[in-house]
Amino acid sequence: MENILIIGAAGQIGSELTLTLRRIYGEDHVFATDIRQAPQDIVEGGPFQILDVMDDKRLIHFVIRHKITQIYHLAAVLSGNAERIPVQAWDINMSSLMNILDLGKEVDEIKKIFWPSSIAVFGQTTPHENTPQLTVMEPNTVYGISKLAGERWCEYYNRRYKMDIRSIRYPGLISYKTEAGGGTTDYAVEIYYDAVKKNSYECFLKEDTMLPMLFMEDAMKATVDLMHADPSKLSVKSSYSIGAISFTPEEVAREIRKHKPDFQITYKPDFRQAIAESWPRTIDASVAKNDWGFEPTYNLEKMTEIMLREIEKKKK
Ligand code: SER
Repeated sequence: MENILIIGAAGQIGSELTLTLRRIYGEDHVFATDIRQAPQDIVEGGPFQILDVMDDKRLIHFVIRHKITQIYHLAAVLSGNAERIPVQAWDINMSSLMNILDLGKEVDEIKKIFWPSSIAVFGQTTPHENTPQLTVMEPNTVYGISKLAGERWCEYYNRRYKMDIRSIRYPGLISYKTEAGGGTTDYAVEIYYDAVKKNSYECFLKEDTMLPMLFMEDAMKATVDLMHADPSKLSVKSSYSIGAISFTPEEVAREIRKHKPDFQITYKPDFRQAIAESWPRTIDASVAKNDWGFEPTYNLEKMTEIMLREIEKKKK
C-alpha cells in the first residue's frame, strides 16, 4: 500500500498531480500539503494540511505518522521571481530539497522521491536547438543554478545511498486549472487568460522567442509513467529532458486568432527576455523516450482549443 506526500499541492503542477495521483492510489492515500491554502477540490477530495517543507521537524513527524512511502516535492521559487530575491530563492529551493533527500535517507519506509528540474539548468553556452540530454550546462539564473545543483544532489543520493529519486526537466508547462507564478515560460499561460478576459495581451518576451513547452496533461502522464517505470531501465540518475512543442509568442497569437480573430498582442520585453534567450529553443527527448516511453500527444493547435474553452468555462 502506497501513501503519498505531495509538497506544493496548491501550485501549478501540484494542484493537478494531487488529483491524478488520488485517482490512481485512492483519495485517502494521497496527502496534499502546501504553505498556503489549496484549491477547494484538493482540500475536499482527500487529506490536505498546511505544512512548511523548511520545517524539518514537523515534516519527519508527518511522514512517520502517515506512513509515507513516496514524496513528490514540487515547491520552488520559479525563474522570474527568483531573480527578485536571489539569496532567499536559493535557500528555499536548495534547503527544501536537502530536507527531503535527508528524510528519504533516514526513513526506510520512503521508497521513492520525485523532484522536478527544469530547462533552466541550461544556459547561454548550451546548444539551443535539439538540446541533448547531456551537454554543456552553465545556467545563469538563480533558479537554473539551484535546479542544476539539485540534479547533482539527486544523482549523488541515488548512487551513494541507493535511493530511488526520479526527476524530469520540465519545459514550460501550460495549464488552465491553476495559474503558474513568476516563471519565464508563463507568458504562454497568461496569454490565454488575457485572450478570454480582454481579447488582448502585452507579452514580456519578444515575438520570435522560441521556448520548449508541454501541455499539463502530457506532463501528468510523463510524471506518472516515469514513477511507474522499471528502475533497471532508468539510465539517468539526475533528471530526464522532455519537451513536446516549441513555439514563439507570435505563433500562439496566430493560433488564438483562429478562434478570436480580433485578438491583439503587443510586446514589451523585460528582464525575462535574457532568461528566455539563455534557454533551449527545442529539446531532444530521445533518452526519456527510450528509457520509459515518453510520448506527448498535444500540439499547439489542440492545446489552444482546450485552453480557450476551459478558461471561458471558468469565467462563467
Ligand atoms: N516554467 C519555469 C520557469 O519559467 C521553467 O521551469 O521558471
